[in-house]
Amino acid sequence: MIKLKKRKILLLPGDGIGPEVIGEVRKIIQWFNVNKSLDFEIDEDLAGGAAYDKHGTPITDEVFYKALESEVVMLGAVGGPKWDNLEFEKKPERALLKLRKELKLFANLRPAICFKQLVNASSLKPEVVSGLDIMIVRELTGGIYFGEPRGIKPIDKGERKGINTHTYTTSEIVRVARVAFDLAKKRANKVTSCEKSNVMEAGQLWKEEVQALHDKEYKEVKLNHMLADNCAMQLLRDPKQFDVIVTDNLFGDMLSDQASMLTGSLGLLPSASLGAKNKNGEMRAMYEPIHGAAPDIAGKDIANPIATILSFAMALKYSLDLDKEAEGLEKAVQGVLDDGLRTKDILTKGMKEVSTTEMGDAIISKLK
Ligand code: IPM
Ligand code: MG
Repeated sequence: MIKLKKRKILLLPGDGIGPEVIGEVRKIIQWFNVNKSLDFEIDEDLAGGAAYDKHGTPITDEVFYKALESEVVMLGAVGGPKWDNLEFEKKPERALLKLRKELKLFANLRPAICFKQLVNASSLKPEVVSGLDIMIVRELTGGIYFGEPRGIKPIDKGERKGINTHTYTTSEIVRVARVAFDLAKKRANKVTSCEKSNVMEAGQLWKEEVQALHDKEYKEVKLNHMLADNCAMQLLRDPKQFDVIVTDNLFGDMLSDQASMLTGSLGLLPSASLGAKNKNGEMRAMYEPIHGAAPDIAGKDIANPIATILSFAMALKYSLDLDKEAEGLEKAVQGVLDDGLRTKDILTKGMKEVSTTEMGDAIISKLK
């Protein structure tokens, strides 16, 4: 078993705008090292299409082992049209899925918060989204993303069949539900569990196990169950009814994209993927923005680095026990938004447009 090295941060910029947004986080980590006397050890390597181009694989064993021994992995984004036609196992996304699965990062936290400065950037009416603060807890290592059997196989008369399997076990459901209940206790104390128990046995099991855990250990938390399609609708109709949403891998993928748009831009939302704590209290974790590699705007210094910077704030909080520093960083982000600085994706009338690097610099100057 590879041992975790405390305070070791592995940066995996990846593809597209990944290197630009991770570049801003690198500046921030260095700032903390110099000005807060923190001792983060930074390493950096290739993942995704960038790794494929150099090594013929989306993640080399060497980089994978580095990730295994790092307390924090910060990922930019992977993928792009350049690699769309590669066979499945070589696609950039496999790097991400392998890291999630093999590092056992089963709980994916995706907050959707509508910053007051940005209520007008949302496509929904301000009164529907202002003050919005949802936490989506997405199961990340099970369900249809990883279920067996899977594949594409030939059947009769030149036809083919694509197969994926949706499975969940009791313990997979219970451990992620526990994360959701624990988070809810520190928030508005409400969990909505989403599945399709009306059509899928795995969904029925999900619902039963979440309810059973609640009745046994979390009676004080308010729990309701919602069919995932209804949840998609409710997120648009009345998103503020939600506090914590817990759901499976696929529904979580879709519902979190949808929730993110309530806040105005994908460019703002961070995520944390957490494993279980070992007996020494150590935990593997990976942090990444929710947005993708956005190849169309890559290399232009216009991407929004805030989602990645807020992902690092989550790392400070969940992995490094530096709550005060996390808050300071979040406040710095709020500060630049208060000052009217905006990257292109969140630009509205009367605000000042800044580049990726200018946004990073402005956030650092607020930290001071
Ligand atoms: C996400 C992404 C990934 C997913 C892709 C890039 C594999 O959409 O993190 O939400 O489907 O999980
Ligand atoms: Mg997604």
